This record gives sequence, C-alpha cells and structure tokens, in this order.
Amino acid sequence: MVRKILFIGVGPGDPDLLTIKAMKEIKSSEVIFWADSLIPEKIINFANKNSEKIRTSSLNLNEIMQKMIEKYKEGKKVIRLHDGDPCLFGAITEQIEILRQENIRVEVIPGISAFQVTASYHQAELTIPDITQTIILSRAGGRTGMPERESLKNLAQHKSSLCLYLSARHIKEAEKTLLEFYSPNTKVIVGYRVSWEDGWTSLINLKDMQKFSKEKKLIRTTIYIVSPALGNFIKPSNLYDPNYNHLFRMS
Ligand SMILES: C[S@@+](CC[C@H](N)C(=O)[O-])C[C@H]1O[C@@H](n2cnc3c(N)ncnc32)[C@H](O)[C@@H]1O
Repeated sequence: MVRKILFIGVGPGDPDLLTIKAMKEIKSSEVIFWADSLIPEKIINFANKNSEKIRTSSLNLNEIMQKMIEKYKEGKKVIRLHDGDPCLFGAITEQIEILRQENIRVEVIPGISAFQVTASYHQAELTIPDITQTIILSRAGGRTGMPERESLKNLAQHKSSLCLYLSARHIKEAEKTLLEFYSPNTKVIVGYRVSWEDGWTSLINLKDMQKFSKEKKLIRTTIYIVSPALGNFIKPSNLYDPNYNHLFRMS
C-alpha cells in the first residue's frame, strides 16, 4: 500500500457531519495534526486514545511541516484535519508543496463547508431558477491578497448568491458596497459557529447587516450568505415539470 498523509475536511463543527471516510481515518490514525481553533475537541475524541494529537493553532507553517515530516518518516500514520472543506481557505497548497518536495504523497478528503450547513439550517436553495443559478464563495477584503478583479464591487454586480467567509471585521464596508447592487431588503443568513453547541444562525435584511454584526460583536467564525434566492420563490424548476423530459423520465 502506498503511504500518504491525508488532509481531511471534518466539516463545520457538528461531529455528526463528518463523512464516514473521515471518521474511519481519524479512528485509525497514529498522529493527528488539527486546527484546534476551528475544530471541536469532540471530533478528536473519536481518535484512538494512544494516538498523538498535535494542536496547530499556535504553530507556524515551518513548525507544523517539520513535525509532520518527522512523524511520517518514523513510519506513523499521519493525518491533518481542517475545518469545513480543505479546498476553501484551507491553506493546504503550501503544506502539500512542502510534502511534495520530500516525495511524500498526499490525499485530500472533502468535508461539508460552512456555507452548506448554514444554508441547510434555513432550508435554503441558493440556486432558484430565474433568480440566480450561481453561488459565489468569497471574502470581503482582509489581510490575504484579494485580486482586484474579484473585489466585492465586481462580485456583487452579478447579484447572485454570495457567501462571505472571513468577513466579519469588514462588514461595514461590505454592506455599503453590496447595497449599491442588491436591494436593502435582500435576505442575509448570518451564521456564527454554525453547528457548534453555542452556534446560531439568523435571517436578517442586508441593510441591517452591519448593525446586527456589531450588536452581536461578531469578529470571527462567522459566515454571511447574501442571496436574492432567500425567501423569494417565483416558479417551480423544470426538473419535476410533467412536460419536461429527461433521461430518467421520458414521456
Ligand atoms: C479559514 S476559513 C475555513 C473555511 C472552511 N474550510 C470551510 O469550508 O468552511 C474559516 C472561516 O470559515 C467560516 N466558518 C468556518 N466554520 C464555520 C462555522 N461553523 N460557522 C460559521 N462560519 C464558519 C468563517 O467565515 C471562518 O472565519
């Protein structure tokens, strides 16, 4: 069997939202690197009590990678846990690149992202025909370089469903920009630590986004889903229309 280090998405917080694959790997691993500021302890508790658990929130990239490579070279089964899905703001590329230089193979296991669980709590479909068929996953500014073509102003012009990660600190400017394109009463789901024991979601109007965030003192682990599809049903999709044939339902 080819040895690998697994990068595993463990979902937004609720351990019941782990995939079976993630659960199996957590149970059988010998060394677990976990982003402890974003992953609840309950998930780590599924691991074998003899496995080594290494918190990464206080380590820098070099420290994490040196330890990971060391444990791998000792012949241990090493896994790296990321919150949500690793492909979204997971900073996995820089880690994988270092492992590649060491000729260490990697596999990535997907997880449920914050926007999915947050939409599900409101039974929301973010792609309603004739309203929007597009979901943008992005952030509003911040310390990490945002290409100008992806500025919030440019993204908002599409008036699609817009999920903003890592944006609570920038919500004042974000609201101002979004109001140039979306109507003030466009619904926004605000989710804080969604699916954690102390987490919650709330449905508000775009014009109240900044005020609400300030009142709730939102700084981190918050997601905003701004969408004209929320609370706005016009007509059923073609999928279940009796006059619409497709591969599995020919008339
Ligand atoms: C570094 S990013 C990682 C995103 C993650 N990979 C995902 O797919 O959800 C962290 C940001 O994701 C969002 N986030 C992650 N988990 C969340 C949760 N349980 N509730 C609300 N927002 C969450 C917040 O915007 C947070 O600041």
